[in-house]
Amino acid sequence: MGNIAKNSSSKLKHVAIIMDGNGRWAQGRSHSRVFGHVRGARIVSSVVQEAIAQNISALTLFAFSTENWGRPLAEIKVLFALLKKFILDERTRIIKNEIRFSVIGDISKLPEETKKIIADLEATTSKFSRLKLTFAFGYGGRFEIVSAVNRALKKKIAAQNFSELTEEEIANNLMSPDLGDVDLLIRTGGDQRISNFLLWQLAYAELYFTPTKWPDFTSGEFKQIVEAASRRNRRFGTVSVCEGLEQSTKIAKRNLELIQTVGIK
Ligand code: FPP
Repeated sequence: MGNIAKNSSSKLKHVAIIMDGNGRWAQGRSHSRVFGHVRGARIVSSVVQEAIAQNISALTLFAFSTENWGRPLAEIKVLFALLKKFILDERTRIIKNEIRFSVIGDISKLPEETKKIIADLEATTSKFSRLKLTFAFGYGGRFEIVSAVNRALKKKIAAQNFSELTEEEIANNLMSPDLGDVDLLIRTGGDQRISNFLLWQLAYAELYFTPTKWPDFTSGEFKQIVEAASRRNRRFGTVSVCEGLEQSTKIAKRNLELIQTVGIK
């Protein structure tokens, strides 16, 4: 990550990435799976740099899922070590580039020293807003939603408010409420799944699956995906912006008249 010039302005505010395919990448080269994670960790910095160049305001990276606890301890330890190494290597540049760094998920099992390093960088960068860089680590989407519901409920009960929970109350109690909805989810590695990632925030996200395995992913491919997704027409369940509400209403009225004319009930 150097000093980054903004060269583009994406419509997308929040991009999330499932960095998949490390194990297969390494095994395909007769290496152990962890070698894939080591090589994969090297890619992260260039993608962060491109996110800033694209004027994206939040980038959330899936680095370790709750399901990943089922992996061999040696592999888990490498992932812990890579998170720590990333923070130590990138700390200066993160601060220089005014990136707000945070980790969401259950990091209670991480070594104390790593937790301290995370807390320190989170505190140091908490006021920055050029890019919100979030690592999901020990993270699961269903767990996040259940925790948010429980937190919201507790607050209501404490306030003697027994009305039904609203979407807004749940959203406000997610692990990082200010990240907002995801505009674009990218998954590398060829599988077309969400894998319990940001389930709430992905409700209206554009989904992009690339066969490229994460260690082969480049800032160039990231740029192309972001640009392609920016051109997509997002309707959020309403009508296309091109078609317009007025024109669409006219068409709907005409169709209704036709139906009445031919007497369809
Ligand atoms: C999925 O690959 C990837 C992960 C479980 C971890 C992602 C982690 C990194 C990219 C490195 C960590 C970097 C930092 C900076 C924390 P997989 O092993 O499931 O691959 P496979 O689908 O080929 O088996």
